[in-house]
Amino acid sequence: MIIDSEKASELLIKGKIVAIPTETVYGLAASFSDLLAIDSIFVTKGRPSDNPLIVHISDISQLSFITDEINETQLKLMNAFWPGPLTLLFKKKAELLDRITAGLDTVAVRMPSHPIALEIIQKTGPIVAPSANKSGKPSTTRVEHILHDYGGLLPVVDGGSCEIGIESTVLDCIAEKATILRPGKITADDIQTVLPHLIIESSSNHDSIKPKSPGMKYTHYSPNATVRWMTPDELDGVYSDTVRYLHVHGKFNSKNHKGYHSNFTQFTKDLFDQFRFADMEHETEIAIEPFHCDENPIASALLNRIRKAMKAEVKLNHDEICS
Ligand code: TXA
Ligand code: MG
Repeated sequence: MIIDSEKASELLIKGKIVAIPTETVYGLAASFSDLLAIDSIFVTKGRPSDNPLIVHISDISQLSFITDEINETQLKLMNAFWPGPLTLLFKKKAELLDRITAGLDTVAVRMPSHPIALEIIQKTGPIVAPSANKSGKPSTTRVEHILHDYGGLLPVVDGGSCEIGIESTVLDCIAEKATILRPGKITADDIQTVLPHLIIESSSNHDSIKPKSPGMKYTHYSPNATVRWMTPDELDGVYSDTVRYLHVHGKFNSKNHKGYHSNFTQFTKDLFDQFRFADMEHETEIAIEPFHCDENPIASALLNRIRKAMKAEVKLNHDEICS
């Protein structure tokens, strides 16, 4: 059911859940103070209850409901990157519902830059919003994706297709050393332009590291089709119309394969849409041309999402291609 932002605010205040657009992906929103509505998010998405939610705010003053401790690093990053696709961890205020943080003593917070999201939060106060996809499905970047996952019953505000297309960067900078728990559009280099001396570790492209972010242990974003790396030469030997080829380099042009080609920014924006489209077309494989993380600032986050969509046995040769 498509609704406008006014109606969305009304429903959220009444304790309902609503899908809303953000600049990254669509979120499934509930008021941060409504336990029943938050429960309903977990049930509706089919989300494991040990995977905490991100609180979304529209004004820094709303942080006072969420945390009592803001350090210099957090302050500088909020000033530099909010509103925008950077989620920061804070020490949780005792009053904040444990259901949001899955019992952790930290809470993830971001201020989205999408005007519709900001307008809604200004009226409702802070909301929690995980990505709106059903658990295990690729994130939703268009209203059609939400209608596909939930049918027409879930109220959703149409904000068009999401500008960035992958979820926010999640950064833990509570302690002196910062850790990127989930890579996104805001990179370590971006962060270091504001805080040149901050030591930043990345924990997300290495499966062996114990997950610090509960969400990292779940395989998200898996389409039904098998996602694998494939060079243009390898693809040349494959004769199948059930393979979709995604590539950024533009060196390959085959009449035998359905394909998608764009630059890194657009590729990232369209990634989940391509995954979902392949499933709709009953394609069996999504072959992706290897690329290197250094090729573009977004490449590392894009790689992270592609890896998450790969089955374990397909992932194996990945590190040889791009580490
Ligand atoms: O771009 C985004 O962040 C989107 C839009 C809707 O804002 N939201 C989103 O939420 O991606 P979700 O729930 O799909 O992903 C949140 C991630 C999960 O991996 C979760 O484990 C992690 O953030 N997270 C949340 N709270 C955390 C905490 N206190 N400590 C560590 N990780 C946390
Ligand atoms: Mg998600």
